[in-house]
Amino acid sequence: LDVVAELTGYPTEMIELDMDMEADLGIDSIKRLEILGEVQRRVPGLEQIDSQYLGSLRTLREIGDYLLGKAGGDEAKPETISDNGNGDTATAGMNGNGERSPSLQRQALTEVELTEGPTRPFEFAPNRPIWITDDCTPLSAAIAERLKAAGGQACLIDAAADPTDSGTPPAGLILLAPATHDDDAAAAYLKQAFRLTRRFVRSLESSDQGGSAFLLTISRLDGAFGLHDSGVSPVIGGLSGLAKTVAHESTPVFVRAIDLDPDSWDSSDAAADAIVHELSFAGPCEVGLHARGRHGLRLEPLPVASESPPFSAGDVVIISGGARGVTADCAEALARNTGATLILLGRSPAPSPEPEWLRAAGDEASVKRALLANAFRDQPRPKPAELERASRAALANREMLHTLERIRAAGGRAEYVSVDVRDAQAVAQAFERARRSHGPIRGLIHAAGVLEDRLIRDKTDEQFDCVFDTKVVGARALLDAARDDDLRALAFFSSVSGRFGRRGQVDYAIANEVLNKLAHREARRRPGCRVVSINWGPWDGGMVTPALRKQFAAEGVGVIARNAGAQALLAELSQPADAAVEVVIANGLPAQDDSAASDSQHPAPPHRFTTTISRKLATETHAFLDSHRISGRPVLPLAMSIEWLATAALHDNPGLHLHGIDDVRVLHGVAIQNGALDLDLCASKLRREEDGYRVEVELHSRQDARAHVRGVVQLAEAPLDHNACDPPANLSAGGAPIAAREIYRNVLFHGEHLQMLESVMLMTDGGADARVTSSVQPSEWMREPLRAEWLTDPLLIDAALQLGIVWCHYRRDSLCLPAFIRRVRTIAPAAARPATLALRVAAVDATRMCGDVWVLDARRRPALVLQGVEWTIDAALRESFGRRAAAYA
Ligand SMILES: NC(=O)c1ccc[n+]([C@@H]2O[C@H](COP(=O)([O-])OP(=O)(O)OC[C@H]3O[C@@H](n4cnc5c(N)ncnc54)[C@H](OP(=O)(O)O)[C@@H]3O)[C@@H](O)[C@H]2O)c1
Repeated sequence: LDVVAELTGYPTEMIELDMDMEADLGIDSIKRLEILGEVQRRVPGLEQIDSQYLGSLRTLREIGDYLLGKAGGDEAKPETISDNGNGDTATAGMNGNGERSPSLQRQALTEVELTEGPTRPFEFAPNRPIWITDDCTPLSAAIAERLKAAGGQACLIDAAADPTDSGTPPAGLILLAPATHDDDAAAAYLKQAFRLTRRFVRSLESSDQGGSAFLLTISRLDGAFGLHDSGVSPVIGGLSGLAKTVAHESTPVFVRAIDLDPDSWDSSDAAADAIVHELSFAGPCEVGLHARGRHGLRLEPLPVASESPPFSAGDVVIISGGARGVTADCAEALARNTGATLILLGRSPAPSPEPEWLRAAGDEASVKRALLANAFRDQPRPKPAELERASRAALANREMLHTLERIRAAGGRAEYVSVDVRDAQAVAQAFERARRSHGPIRGLIHAAGVLEDRLIRDKTDEQFDCVFDTKVVGARALLDAARDDDLRALAFFSSVSGRFGRRGQVDYAIANEVLNKLAHREARRRPGCRVVSINWGPWDGGMVTPALRKQFAAEGVGVIARNAGAQALLAELSQPADAAVEVVIANGLPAQDDSAASDSQHPAPPHRFTTTISRKLATETHAFLDSHRISGRPVLPLAMSIEWLATAALHDNPGLHLHGIDDVRVLHGVAIQNGALDLDLCASKLRREEDGYRVEVELHSRQDARAHVRGVVQLAEAPLDHNACDPPANLSAGGAPIAAREIYRNVLFHGEHLQMLESVMLMTDGGADARVTSSVQPSEWMREPLRAEWLTDPLLIDAALQLGIVWCHYRRDSLCLPAFIRRVRTIAPAAARPATLALRVAAVDATRMCGDVWVLDARRRPALVLQGVEWTIDAALRESFGRRAAAYA
């Protein structure tokens, strides 16, 4: 964890072994190698990880298990790691230990009038199509006409078909949902909408064209996202969950979820005008459009009235997902407070008593050991996945036994039925059996749910369907089965992810929004029944893993203590039938509106920093980025980060001289996705030290709100002189010169702006000497540069770093990228024309190369020196470089 913290910039306490390295920590493959290399250096004796296998290790724990397994071949060792983890078993997070539960916030969703937000510059990107799903009504044609009239290339597409790939990325996607009354057709449209959005997002990312793109979702519920009635299937309401998630995942894409009042418009043309007009101003993501004006949604605090529970002893209540997770706590509270007979549904087989050998095993690691010694006795080396499955099943069985025991101890009655809620027939049979055995069904709680968190671009259809169907198909199966039951209370377990959207949870956000909207229809259909859809904030347990809990904490969102959550459910079910239907219950909430708005706020950098300069990075304004693409994506060169961080340090300290920058670390590569990236250059206060001044600096991106590059800038009252650094030792003669043409064709990915190596004159095992061409002015690289002259000269620094890559290629047959520089000293870079580079390699192993590079002026005096440079070596870079190299060839 220390190594990860050091190399990524996250505080150690934020990192959990079970975090997904890519999704949770944003660790890309090269950073992963850097981390592993460092771990291997600190723990001698660990074997090399097979790089092909490495890609399949998703969490830090899996890497730890792998390394320990390799080191000792000892099966028990990985389990030691789990012992050392947070030790949470499925029930460990319970707040049944007398802790005082924090009071929860309860808010209800209401409709408010909206004025137009500030106007935003908007132009249709020329020659790029705008996809509009054609619902074969005059509205889709009218929208297309308006867009064409405004200069857009609108094309109507069939939502079920894959749009023809013209090779040109779309400028926009308009998901015009059918105004269908059929829930099945609505659910099918949501799945199509997800697939089209995935296509849209991928297409923008691979082409780096997201900056000016937009996504509109249009439903026609009632102009208030299903708070009222229009007869249109409320399932379509899930669409806004998609929009809100795209707003979180693809920040540069302008996103708006529109719900059109279907009845108030004189014509489709008028509605189309209002829809297209929405593209021209900022504001909240969800907008209800009426002919008379715009409406928005707002959460209002609303206390619960104290009422008596809706069930009495013997009433039958069906609870999907009730045998495990947080719903099990709710079931126990219901049993204790009402005496109702509970029918708990879940996919797991009905629980059976634990064998003797398993009973003593407390935590997950001990369960695995017990399974290995007993269940797998005849199979000495089961596959890790098999052991994992067996252990999960054993823990689920134990959790269910525990739930049933707790309900019994609370004086209640419960029966577990193994049924998949997606199977409508099996659900109907379970209801029928419950009626026959226990009497009329009076309550229904749908809490079954699963997570498959992945960004939209990476999510498979299967993952989407699994999450969506459990909630939506499950809800419909349960409602169908209960159609004729006289229910007193009906609750859906929805989530704040539905209300606000959430990165990685498009399926879950859509599905929970569907539950929210279904609840309104159900409330209208069952006038005497308390119907509620609870958008829960994260609980202290269930599907909220310790890693997720940390993530929420970082967002300022607390977890719901389990006993407090269970009491909140009881209170909710006890409200009168006309109480608020769509409520949010949480222990702290993300900021309202902003979180779902297109122009969302971003967390401020750590408080010791202030943002001195902000920049929007895009290839249109920063042409050099086009010459620095890795795997097709523009990436800010480290040399340019160094230049800008130095600029940030001097910004508030004019009059001081730059000596250099120390401990420069790439924490996360600065890759530009969706066309643009908003950068903040942050600097700490000036700190005086014996030999000068220090300013800590960090480069942050707003999109993912994290530090990408950091360092400590060295300032002083006088400039550095040429004696500040010793010159390099000479190399012995070796090898024929290599021409720039060959280097840029066969080795480097750098495009024309960055092709400043003229030739490598000499190369030996100890290093290389090279010549570089003259430099360029900042204005030749970008519009509106921060300074008229370079402070550090990124061209020379980049050339110095390139020389390391070239050496690695010719001498080690590998490729690498710079990750760290201990010391950069800027003596007189501007005077170094013509310049010579001298690379001296200090050490190289399988994952890292270290060395120093001097930039020498015409008199061979050091003009710029990079000391303690570390390049991470990665075999996979060959592919990332190669494509581009071919493109430039
Ligand atoms: N925990 C939270 O912080 C939180 C926050 C917001 C909302 N919620 C919602 O609250 C509910 C419970 O969450 P949890 O954290 O307790 O989750 P959990 O621990 O993962 O439990 C999920 C439950 O759903 C059941 N289930 C999953 N798929 C099913 C299917 N197809 N058919 C029948 N049962 C199924 C599981 O049993 P089997 O595996 O045996 O099928 C299990 O009992 C979910 O709907 C979730 O979306 C939870």
